[in-house]
Amino acid sequence: MCGIIGYIGEKEATPIIIEGLKKLEYRGYDSCGISLIEKNKINSKKVIGKVEILEKAVNSSKSKVGIAHTRWATHGKVNEKNAHPHFDCKKSLSIVHNGIIENHQELKQLLKNHNFQSETDTEVIAHLLEDFLKKGEKIENAFKKTLNLLEGAYSIVMIHKDYPDRIFVARKSSPLVLGIGDNETIVASDIIPILKYTNNIIYLQDGDIAIIKQREYLIKNLEDLPVDREIKKLKVDMSEISKGKFPHFMLKEIYEQSDTIKNAFKGRMDYENATSKFSGLNISEKEIKNIDKIILIGCGTSWHAGLIGKQLFEDIARISTTTEYASEFRYRNPVLNKNNLIISLSQSGETADTIAALKEAKKYNIKTIGLVNVVGSTISRLVDGGIYLHSGQEIGVASTKTFTSHLTILYLLAIYLGRIKKTIGRKQAIEMMDDLKKIPKLIEETYNENNHIRKIATKYFNKSNALYLGRNYNFPVALEGALKLKEISYIHAEGYPAAEMKHGPIALIDRKMPTIFIAPSGKLYQKILSNIEEVRSRNGKIIAITTKENNQLKDKIDEVIYVPKTSEYLTPILTSIPTQLLAYHIAVMRGCNVDKPRNLAKSVTVE
Ligand code: M6R
Repeated sequence: MCGIIGYIGEKEATPIIIEGLKKLEYRGYDSCGISLIEKNKINSKKVIGKVEILEKAVNSSKSKVGIAHTRWATHGKVNEKNAHPHFDCKKSLSIVHNGIIENHQELKQLLKNHNFQSETDTEVIAHLLEDFLKKGEKIENAFKKTLNLLEGAYSIVMIHKDYPDRIFVARKSSPLVLGIGDNETIVASDIIPILKYTNNIIYLQDGDIAIIKQREYLIKNLEDLPVDREIKKLKVDMSEISKGKFPHFMLKEIYEQSDTIKNAFKGRMDYENATSKFSGLNISEKEIKNIDKIILIGCGTSWHAGLIGKQLFEDIARISTTTEYASEFRYRNPVLNKNNLIISLSQSGETADTIAALKEAKKYNIKTIGLVNVVGSTISRLVDGGIYLHSGQEIGVASTKTFTSHLTILYLLAIYLGRIKKTIGRKQAIEMMDDLKKIPKLIEETYNENNHIRKIATKYFNKSNALYLGRNYNFPVALEGALKLKEISYIHAEGYPAAEMKHGPIALIDRKMPTIFIAPSGKLYQKILSNIEEVRSRNGKIIAITTKENNQLKDKIDEVIYVPKTSEYLTPILTSIPTQLLAYHIAVMRGCNVDKPRNLAKSVTVE
């Protein structure tokens, strides 16, 4: 949560920082602020709302060093005082922070004579530093001593008016990367604002403290010992981080799925051995043969993907599997043993609850695997082995393409496990891989429904509630469809297993309420038809997402959206696309900020 950027170099800092901050807005956008060092003074500006408001408000400046922050509020209301940067009493230093300082109340007790301006946990860091400096500590030492007092998670970037040639940086359980340019160094929460200037990237690790200057940097640990961090030369397709011809990132990312699915399976199908293959899995066949249970953990959309993974692993590899909310798992007392396998699903690889759940699982000495999109992210470094989604940057706050990429990887993994466990033979595995290879083309066909879906949206965009129903592999799609609608259009929506409807939600059905059935052909198709009848007989409005061959449905219900036929295991990839498009069009028609929905942030790095 929250985006951080700092610049020191030969150019004017303000435009670089403001442009970078805009690229970080997907991390939080309720308020923002900037601090620059000018003539041995800290000049700052903070505003409520988006970076474009800050851009207009900030004075022109020749300063070549500055820091900035875009906030997703955790402690303290959304107002200018609580916006970052924060300062010490004399405004000699300025600090931005992402994370939570859990012991800030206790630390505040040590700072009774300090004048606090905000209700944030962050401000305590600035005053602690001030205290150490007052006691005569050198600035680097004061910074390190302050960090040693902090409990919780942080990425911190600090400037001091008397040290205009450097920026102080620290990371613990919250991401920070350095961009090492020719005559400039940039620090940010992720690589997106840096790549325009350099592709030489250092991923800071937990416990790292860095002093960055225009042409040099030094990284140490909390014990003051220098540490060596590799500079990675990143090759990133810049088109990934622009909207191109699309009005929103979300729509662009929905339309990327025919390619991102290909990227997820490319090089991972081994026809000779009739199995899938992964270079970084790091788990032996013997260990796989011994697996007696898989636990999939994740949050939000990643958890929904995990629910489908459970069915794939049980159906295809016959391995007992559970899917857990990371936020619950981390505080439970799970019964685990060394023959279990933990699979952590995350787009960002930085979700605080998923990281904590993983750390919890590691205490049991269990093998862990990460299915992650962001290369070099915390989860990808924590796990024993992993599979990257290769979806490219996902910038829209609502996850779309990474959901279907997770499904693709889970499917391939189920084949891999099934072949080792001998629950599927060569022929079946080859057929399954063939089915997957056809999916990108079938996704293209699904896009043909877009205009029809937009028309449907015109009829339903002003509703207040919606019910999404699905069964079996498509029950998690119902959950995910409901999540998409509520997060970007603010319409209340619920996902349910279709047969559960009669145990409660059926009371909601009336002439106004739309029910979206995710009902492709499959073993429960006839059953879901009965559920459709139940809604129909109560005069509910019905939208069904079904397979092309079920053309008799259109005579019975209000709206039908067709997807092409595929194997039942792969139906969620196709059926989720109309749910994404429907949510998208409804949100646009309601005038919502699709890429940056209120109160949300792309990466939830706080508990
Ligand atoms: O980065 P992660 O996949 O770990 O994020 C988990 C959730 O915050 C995320 O899936 C969220 O639910 C979606 N962005 C909603 O569309």
